[in-house]
Amino acid sequence: MNIILFGPPGVGKGTQAVLLAAGRGLKHLSTGEMLRELVKTGSEVGKRVDMIMTGGGFVSDDIVIGIIADRIDQPDCANGFILDGFPRNLKQAVALDELLRSKGKAIDRVIEIHGEERALVERISGRFSCANCGANYHGAFKLPKLTGVCDYCGATKFTRRADDNVETVRVRLMAYYRETAPLIGYYFCKGGLESVDGMPPVDEVARNINAVLD
Ligand code: AP5
Repeated sequence: MNIILFGPPGVGKGTQAVLLAAGRGLKHLSTGEMLRELVKTGSEVGKRVDMIMTGGGFVSDDIVIGIIADRIDQPDCANGFILDGFPRNLKQAVALDELLRSKGKAIDRVIEIHGEERALVERISGRFSCANCGANYHGAFKLPKLTGVCDYCGATKFTRRADDNVETVRVRLMAYYRETAPLIGYYFCKGGLESVDGMPPVDEVARNINAVLD
């Protein structure tokens, strides 16, 4: 099964994609994560991408479409994949359709997760992650069980994303409503669109997503 998860920054796409991928044996493909890896290479392209992401804008369509085109051909996507953060505008959605058609594949379900803007800003401004394994935490909602120690790998260093501050979150939200939200209409017309509320606790959102997929 191939799934698109989309929704505004902080609504829980990444959190839910990890759970879904583990529960259904699908590959989680996050363009945000792939771009952050590209930034870490320190290449010229990586430096340009870093500046765009730090400012909250969208990276060029050609770069992200190219990344996804390479990635969905890998063997670990053979059982299906979850796209998290892609497509983000109409050009990317159309490119994805063409790409999948050329490979005899298709998207089976599109899940739009929605949430309340104030809560999204709060979620993102409090988010931090383990510097070693990348596990996600939040200063108010999800602290490590033992203060300063990652629950999953025991590391003691944590990081914050450069774009996780109140000012940049507002720019990211604006970009979402301007460029990505119109895809709700696009996927409604194509069929297979489901909407899920991202505001309840993580487990409840996961149950609701699984219910619409089943
Ligand atoms: P990306 O990494 O995709 O960021 P985003 O879309 O802004 O989404 P986030 O990762 O911030 O939030 P999320 O919805 O995954 O929520 P999460 O589960 O982490 O993109 C970053 C940048 O990369 C973009 O701005 C752009 O520059 C570039 N980019 C990426 N894709 C691109 C593309 N296709 N084209 C062009 N540019 C692209 O949860 C957030 C927090 O809330 C966490 O702390 C979590 O623990 C907590 N939380 C989650 N669910 C719940 C819940 N139910 N209750 C309470 N807390 C919760």
